[in-house]
Amino acid sequence: MSDDFDVVTGAFSYSGAVIARELQAAGRRVRTLTGHPGRAPAGTAIEVRPLDFANPAGLAESLRGARTLVNTYWVRFAHGRVSLESAVAQSRVLFQAAAEAGVHRVVHVSITHPDADSPYPYFRGKAAVEQALADLGLPHTVLRPAILFGGNGVLINNMAWLLRHLPVFAVGGTGEYRIRPIHVDDLAWLCVQAADATGTEVIDAVGPERPAFGDLVRFIKDAVGSRSQVINVPGSLIPPAARLLGLALRDTLLTAEEFEAMAGGLADTDGPATGDTSLTQWITDHKGTLGRTYANELTRHFR
Ligand SMILES: NC(=O)c1ccc[n+]([C@@H]2O[C@H](COP(=O)([O-])OP(=O)(O)OC[C@H]3O[C@@H](n4cnc5c(N)ncnc54)[C@H](OP(=O)(O)O)[C@@H]3O)[C@@H](O)[C@H]2O)c1
Repeated sequence: MSDDFDVVTGAFSYSGAVIARELQAAGRRVRTLTGHPGRAPAGTAIEVRPLDFANPAGLAESLRGARTLVNTYWVRFAHGRVSLESAVAQSRVLFQAAAEAGVHRVVHVSITHPDADSPYPYFRGKAAVEQALADLGLPHTVLRPAILFGGNGVLINNMAWLLRHLPVFAVGGTGEYRIRPIHVDDLAWLCVQAADATGTEVIDAVGPERPAFGDLVRFIKDAVGSRSQVINVPGSLIPPAARLLGLALRDTLLTAEEFEAMAGGLADTDGPATGDTSLTQWITDHKGTLGRTYANELTRHFR
């Protein structure tokens, strides 16, 4: 292979799958680094290599000759032996392997409002990873989504699932905090553009709509025909309620940090939209299937 191929992490998981598909549609050959090679669909044209951080030389070998590394690797929350600190360290290993392999460019998926001084480990960790990438000196694009929807995404789907199954849906605090989701296809399109770009850039990957959270809950409720009662409760009740529900669902539904960051406005931005897909139109178009099946994060990534 010459540098007519790109490497994408997680091509059999969520955003990585869509990014790989869009790169292929743009005529690129794709190799993936993944911890789940067994999830490769039969007959896939994607070349599969292990995302094995314990083997930096092997990672560099898998990256050698690639034009671009598109990096989606991250962990949503600490669980068992996996921590956000280890995710930062492993991201550094991956970037260093890319530099050593002579990869020309890195496209890195981050988060809105990463901040080295954030009270939240997720946002601090994301800032540390962005810094590690900047320190590497390779041309790169950082794409910062707030929340993804579409495909087999978790958050909006599980809101719909809860609304379909529970008599009450609790919105923490006023529910007036806004969120700015982007469709996963739009993020993938930005990745394809970024893989072709030159120089270094940082872009918020955000859609055209930024509904208040409470309004979004009510919109989904109406769309899926839920009879659930939407109530406002003090924000401090959301993390313990999510923990209890998580126990019943054998999942981590929503961490305290995720709730507090969202309620604190970190899933919103002021800038222009970089994705076109309307969240509310998408919900309307998918109201028949949205939330029919629960998407379990622990099953996807920790079991
Ligand atoms: N999903 C969202 O709503 C959202 C919102 C804002 C920002 N982002 C950012 O977008 C990027 C991609 O997110 P995504 O939701 O599309 O992620 P994903 O596809 O579920 O996972 C992305 C990559 O991380 C690896 N990974 C995830 N959890 C892991 C764990 N516990 N242990 C080891 N490896 C793990 C996956 O490994 P495998 O290949 O083995 O599956 C995959 O390579 C991340 O940087 C995330 O922070 C996502």
